[in-house]
Amino acid sequence: MEIFTKTKNLMSYLNNLKNKKIGFVPTMGALHNGHISLIKKSVSENDITIVSIFVNPTQFLEGEDLDKYPKKIASDKKVCQIAGVDGLFLPTEEEIYFDDESEIIAPKKTGYILEGYHRPNHFNGVLRVVLKLLNITKADNAYFGKKDAQQLYLVKKMVQNFFIKTNIVECDIIRDSDGLALSSRNAYLTMQEREKAVNLSKSLKKATKLIISGERDCNIIKQNMMELLKDIKIDYIEIVDRNFNKLEKIEIKNSIILIAGFVGTTRLIDNLEI
Ligand code: PAJ
Repeated sequence: MEIFTKTKNLMSYLNNLKNKKIGFVPTMGALHNGHISLIKKSVSENDITIVSIFVNPTQFLEGEDLDKYPKKIASDKKVCQIAGVDGLFLPTEEEIYFDDESEIIAPKKTGYILEGYHRPNHFNGVLRVVLKLLNITKADNAYFGKKDAQQLYLVKKMVQNFFIKTNIVECDIIRDSDGLALSSRNAYLTMQEREKAVNLSKSLKKATKLIISGERDCNIIKQNMMELLKDIKIDYIEIVDRNFNKLEKIEIKNSIILIAGFVGTTRLIDNLEI
């Protein structure tokens, strides 16, 4: 596995590959089985897999966890090597951002609801860095997790709207055995908080059961979910269609139930496609 810290070195490495299918997995590191599932999918579907680890400052709001975001670079390198990664990109901020540069703004509607409402401009930062990384790697396929459903939706939309050639591959959410969706931020949780955090996924399971038993009213489903979420400071529970329009009634195979909230000081998100 080659390690690149300079953008120009990664770009010339990729330029010298002739007729190779390139897969790309952007991450912020502290890699867990969720990330690994994306990496393995890329390794199995491409000739060359590039993983980036970059804790992107522009997607963190003031007061968020940018400074304490978990860093595990030594073990991340091993994980990537074992998973069969060809190139690991570890840029510094100076390699990615320039003085007085153009910026991209998330869509005014779908970029500023839910996550975008509670973390205003967060998606500007996400899209800005993803656009740069896709241009650097010129990947054939880039892998994103459904764990960040709104991010995935907005990345797909940007790729379409800006005529980027990369195919965006959607990857399923990987969970712990108790249902908690894996997240680098789970590392912040104390044992007690960890127990409370499981209620996020439990509430999604409860919603599934209600829907299977015939319930379609989104308000009733959300109220039922709330009963399990008393220990979590909820930012939002929302049910939208796959284009992020708010729904009153569940549409089977076209709905997503999304939750975000704080367990202690740790902000977690989860969702389920229906
Ligand atoms: P990060 O949170 O490190 O996640 C990197 C990728 O892994 C994202 O596509 C995310 O959805 C996926 N992922 C995280 N947890 C997952 C899980 N439990 N199951 C499946 N996939 C999971 O998302 C980011 O970084 C950043 O916003 C980034 C896209 C790298 C831009 O900075």
